[in-house]
Amino acid sequence: MVKPISGFSKLSKEKKIQWLISTYCQGEDSISKILKSYWNTDTKLQQLHDEFIENTISNFYLPLAIAPNFLINGKIYTLPMAIEESSVVAAASNAAKFWLERGGFKAKVLSTTKNGQVHFNFFGKKKELVLFFNTIKPKLLLSIAAISKNMVNRGGGLLDIVLVDKTKDLENYYQLHCTFETLDAMGANFINSCLEQFAKTLQEEAIYFMPFITSKARLEVVMSILSNYVPECLVRAEVCCPISDLTTKELKGKDFAEKIIRAIAIAKAEPRRAVTHNKGIMNGIDAVVIATGNDFRAVEAGIHAYASKDGRYSSLTHAEIVGDQFHYWIEIPLAIGTVGGLTTLHPLVKVALEILQKPSAKDVMQLIAVAGLAQNFAAIKSLVTIGIQKGHMKMHLMNILNQMQASAIEKKEAIEYFKKNTVTHNAVVTFIENLRK
Ligand code: MEV
Repeated sequence: MVKPISGFSKLSKEKKIQWLISTYCQGEDSISKILKSYWNTDTKLQQLHDEFIENTISNFYLPLAIAPNFLINGKIYTLPMAIEESSVVAAASNAAKFWLERGGFKAKVLSTTKNGQVHFNFFGKKKELVLFFNTIKPKLLLSIAAISKNMVNRGGGLLDIVLVDKTKDLENYYQLHCTFETLDAMGANFINSCLEQFAKTLQEEAIYFMPFITSKARLEVVMSILSNYVPECLVRAEVCCPISDLTTKELKGKDFAEKIIRAIAIAKAEPRRAVTHNKGIMNGIDAVVIATGNDFRAVEAGIHAYASKDGRYSSLTHAEIVGDQFHYWIEIPLAIGTVGGLTTLHPLVKVALEILQKPSAKDVMQLIAVAGLAQNFAAIKSLVTIGIQKGHMKMHLMNILNQMQASAIEKKEAIEYFKKNTVTHNAVVTFIENLRK
């Protein structure tokens, strides 16, 4: 059995690797070689990555790709996408090209308010708490003056604090619900610093001031943290074209429009399908979120909660026919930053933001929503016609060849052969084995 280790974080990177190998890999030197082969030869760059997190032993690469030809609000964009799944970028590029020829995407930020809460217990009468809160509210506002000075100077900051009675959901549970405008910053650090200050002020004022209002009541702060559910920070992306323009070599425009609408209706009726439908959307969203240095876990959590906002997990995309026009859109909450955090540290994120022409957070919200809609369109287009496996396996061919350590000549022959033959794992293995005989 492995013994616990103390003081691990203080060991050097080399010592951490040694411990790992002797503990889990029977002293196997090849593991150390693999880990080190991913170190950057530029030691400064490696140090930057080492210092992003604790206990770094190597780098974990994702391919960074670009999907060109996205016409969004009249401007052509090339989207940077960091993702490992074979067919995602190809699908995005295809969808971009499809809509480029049909008027492109329109995107709009609907709102930008973020939020967080100080969660606390209150044992006493609600009206006493309301009186206490109203009395100390100016102090709460004043308490974050230093923290919010720069944000306020740039035009953002705290929007409001309200006292919320949650006792119907949980005994004695109240919260300070705080709303913020964080401009081009994702705002997590700013919001959490404000909330922790509010919590401190609230607790201190409760100790000193509450006895003047009521002798028996007691207030206990439990925690304070931003919420990754941001339904007041919304973006919408859409496409629209005459139904006849949807005609492809597989389907007539009307049939294609109806199939898309039906596929979305199924995702709205059946949560099992909705999860996969939305997973496809997240393929596009996460890839751009990661490439632009944003927090994909926050985005994922917030978007999936939004997909359940009406009480059942449902589709994030919607479609309808109005007259002779096909309308297709997505609406999602997104807390995105283009300043601070990784955006100013990671060299590839800086490149991604350069490719996007130094966008504001609002611009990136729009681009991400478009990436999600495009990905959903590409998935549905395949699903209702030839199925996804053909395209997916075509892109996956190289992975199978690499698993088999195929040589350059073997790869060339396989690519040629599978232009006309269906790619399956077995077919590729058999093809290469036959070549090698
Ligand atoms: C695969 O990563 C994504 C899809 O399953 C999405 C969908 O089914 O809509 C193709």
